Amino acid sequence: MLIRPRRNRKSRSIRELVQEHHITTDDLIFPLFLLEQPKGAIEVASMPGIYRLGIEPMLKEIEECLKLGIKAFDIFPVVEEKHKDKMATRSKNQDFFYLKALKQIKQSFPEACIMTDVAMDPYSTDGHDGIVDENGAILNDETLEVLGDMALAQAGTGIDIIGPSDMMDGRVGYLRDCLDRNGFKEVSIMSYTAKYASAFYGPFRDALDSAPKSGDKKTYQMDPANQREALIEAQLDMEEGADFLMVKPALSYLDIIKLLKENSDVPVAAYNVSGEYAMVAAASEKGWLDKEQVMNEVLLSIKRAGADIILTYFAKQFALHAKR
Ligand code: PBG
Repeated sequence: MLIRPRRNRKSRSIRELVQEHHITTDDLIFPLFLLEQPKGAIEVASMPGIYRLGIEPMLKEIEECLKLGIKAFDIFPVVEEKHKDKMATRSKNQDFFYLKALKQIKQSFPEACIMTDVAMDPYSTDGHDGIVDENGAILNDETLEVLGDMALAQAGTGIDIIGPSDMMDGRVGYLRDCLDRNGFKEVSIMSYTAKYASAFYGPFRDALDSAPKSGDKKTYQMDPANQREALIEAQLDMEEGADFLMVKPALSYLDIIKLLKENSDVPVAAYNVSGEYAMVAAASEKGWLDKEQVMNEVLLSIKRAGADIILTYFAKQFALHAKR
């Protein structure tokens, strides 16, 4: 035998020399859920180890993560039902706890990269990402103004990246124009480019209590059966000025990550979503899987597929337990 591939696996030091892909905390964005009660901390039942936090514990959490090398955070508000309405009006209200908290976070940690979502669902009594008309249709163009106001209110807090996440048409171009015309040329856009109508978002919707009250999201999020359609979305997002493209979920869509990586010049992010975290957490609670090893393998697979950036609920656990 002339060629023995096992020779390159014979010791840890050789394996590390030939290791093709690495994950570091530089690659990660940690999604966090913000509660209105300043001191609150409530675990998400379907995401063991992940807490909804009020601003006080959240500032501590961000400080700890920064020390561990995690520098980017995607912060979602948990909006109480009494603050929701059909037009998501709270999302632009300067006195709303979320916008005040974002300001406080950026003032406390100017070096941290803070990202926010731009979509109606956390603030909407309908639980949909856009305005719902009397026939139950989700309106595309009519929703733009709400999103523009939301994006400007978020940008005004000093955050770094907005993430249009509703998977409807014309978002990136409209929001880029809004931001630029209002003095926010430096605010980046990470577009949820290929976001699929996935059942893996279940635990996230538990965390925010944001599940649709009727129907599903199939008229705006992509069909899990489709691959080439992601190229149309990527093309449009790049033409409209997106700074980053995103694929979501990650694990069942590794082919899509690869496809976008090969067909775009902007960085590609992948969102390792709530249900993907929940599967690993649940199996490890049962003693069926080794959480840390599976976490490493999952993150590597996403990186290997081509993701430059990974949004993941494992971020802090990775930073704490990463192989050094
Ligand atoms: C809101 C939004 C969702 C997620 C991120 N932003 C849920 C949805 O579209 O229903 C899911 C994130 C996760 O599951 O971790 N538009």
